Amino acid sequence: MANSAPRSRILGTGHYLPAIVRTNADLEKLVDTSDAWITERTGIRERRIAPDGVVTSDMATAAAKEALAMAGLQASDLDMIIVGTVTPDMPMPATAVYVQQKLGATSCPAFDLSAACAGFVFGLTIADKFVGSGTMKHVLVIGVELLSRVIDWSDRTTCVLFGDGAGAVIVGPTDASSSGILSTAIHTDGALAGSLMIPGGGSVTPASHEVVEQKLHKVHMRGQDIFKVAVRNLFSASKNALEAAGMTSENVDWICAHQANLRIIDQVTSRLAVPAEKVLINIDRVGNTSSASIPILVDENFRSGKIKKGDTVLMCALGAGISWGSALVRM
Ligand code: ACO
Repeated sequence: MANSAPRSRILGTGHYLPAIVRTNADLEKLVDTSDAWITERTGIRERRIAPDGVVTSDMATAAAKEALAMAGLQASDLDMIIVGTVTPDMPMPATAVYVQQKLGATSCPAFDLSAACAGFVFGLTIADKFVGSGTMKHVLVIGVELLSRVIDWSDRTTCVLFGDGAGAVIVGPTDASSSGILSTAIHTDGALAGSLMIPGGGSVTPASHEVVEQKLHKVHMRGQDIFKVAVRNLFSASKNALEAAGMTSENVDWICAHQANLRIIDQVTSRLAVPAEKVLINIDRVGNTSSASIPILVDENFRSGKIKKGDTVLMCALGAGISWGSALVRM
């Protein structure tokens, strides 16, 4: 899905992280784990937790407001709102509907997209197609998760990994070749659907006392299954994104990979032969925020001036589904 000349670009970025910090030492008091195990196996030292009363659409709206401000746009300028999330406000209606309401973006289409940790890259791909085709002018893409509410805090194999947060970008048109979305690629392989799921609460096992008793409304994961596939697929998706734009990893200024596990990121970037100084990391501070991971990382580094206008950023993500994808973006 390469663009010969980029026709859409990222006009603004934003993010929101809740103020409450839960450290590895805090988790040592909850489950049989240690700071040493978590740090060595994942790279995570702490994560953010949303306080009671804050919901997914609140975090998404906060990130969106920052992105709109950077883009110099009003909510009324938006033509579409896409929210990537697996932790919606509720099953129906879409969280994007509440984001629209809270922003006051009264009449644009707004919908959720379920591709887990790849949700942001999927959303960016859709936005690129709508803006690139000239169908829409300004598309808000949000990755947001409130995973702390669907984590079993007595399961050490999952509770140490995840955190809450939101990231957002505005995609809009461009005539310049100095910036733009250069290529995107998205994939799904349902063969591994059972490796990472929230099994209860849907049509297979509707909500019931039993679902709650058996904790089927919480995240269940076979981490090792995903680890192996993640390294392989993130590497091939990144390579495809580069090839589609006629580039090699030498042309990349920054890698913003999904922050699921530092060891996965290290293995993917070393296969791509990208030096460590080009690999952006915040997993130590925020953990795995699923679909919010990449837009938070991009915004933190764009806002601080580390990523500069005109820099080429390679984004890649993989999550439940399994779904994965990549995007090559000149900021
Ligand atoms: N503290 C201490 N010990 C632990 C913990 C913990 N928190 N968790 C597991 N262990 C133990 C296990 O029980 C096991 O013990 P055993 O050898 O006695 O059986 C041992 O540590 C090793 O467990 P592994 O599962 O082999 O550990 P691994 O090195 O694979 O790390 C991890 C686990 C971190 C989950 C890793 O597999 C991983 O990151 N997987 C990928 C996760 C991912 O990318 N998910 C997709 C994105 S998320 C999304 O889509 C929402």
